[in-house]
Amino acid sequence: MQPAFIPYTDTDRQVWSTLLERQALLLPGKATAAFGEGLRQVGLQAASIPQLAALSERFHSLTGWRFEPVNGIVDDRVFFELLAERRFPITTWLRSPAQLDYLEEPDFFHDCYGHVPLLANEPFSDYLHGMAEAFRPYLHRPVMVELLTRLYWFTVEFGLIREANEQGIAELRIYGAGILSSVGETAYSLGDVPERRPFDLQQVMATPYRKDAYQGVYYVVPSYEALFASLSELRSLLPRLARVADEAALQQLADAAAPHARGSDGTDTLLPVSTPLAAVPAAG
Ligand SMILES: [Fe+2]
Repeated sequence: MQPAFIPYTDTDRQVWSTLLERQALLLPGKATAAFGEGLRQVGLQAASIPQLAALSERFHSLTGWRFEPVNGIVDDRVFFELLAERRFPITTWLRSPAQLDYLEEPDFFHDCYGHVPLLANEPFSDYLHGMAEAFRPYLHRPVMVELLTRLYWFTVEFGLIREANEQGIAELRIYGAGILSSVGETAYSLGDVPERRPFDLQQVMATPYRKDAYQGVYYVVPSYEALFASLSELRSLLPRLARVADEAALQQLADAAAPHARGSDGTDTLLPVSTPLAAVPAAG
């Protein structure tokens, strides 16, 4: 359990203000409008690092969500159980000046600046809660946790959205926290290199992801309402998916998740795209 008051240092305050000011210059015209609205609503400012306990109380009265202080990476199952209770885990440590551009695990800047503003958007936060809740009966099975992680990854962390700009013209925008909190991936995700696909629930859950590099593919949603509406397909799909996600697939996932099974270049060797979703009956 984290203390109620986090004693940030002058160096921490410098890191926080540098990161916020840098993204404030970079994100206009690239981030979803909901991000800017959320920033204003939550009141995140470069001049001071918010205390999580106070932020959580204020946010709860605004949205019904609380922030759960955690110490580093949380076990996947615990993480999703918290989301199913509208409690968002946030780590309180902040990166050092030497880590401004690269981190191997989330820090307070990523969790707070990247995630919190979008949580103020009702259809988006209802989607986040709804996906965790839909998977809740299956979280004891690693293969199902992996599928939920992929869905979370390609939407909440690395999602893109198509929305109208001030002239009413539809443009690509960023809503994923992993991109919003990364200078490099902000430009990369909207550029010419990566593949961008329309959001498709089953295709997303059949796509392995990278933790050690920019994504090769991003999924684009037409709106947060469409994201929320996809939950009905998810709820009807999950019982069938749980029946066909067999023990071999589960073992393959467990092996891929173990440190010794990672490739020598640090890449994950996750479940092939073709399984287990390819085996899901179309109806029933
Ligand atoms: Fe994150």
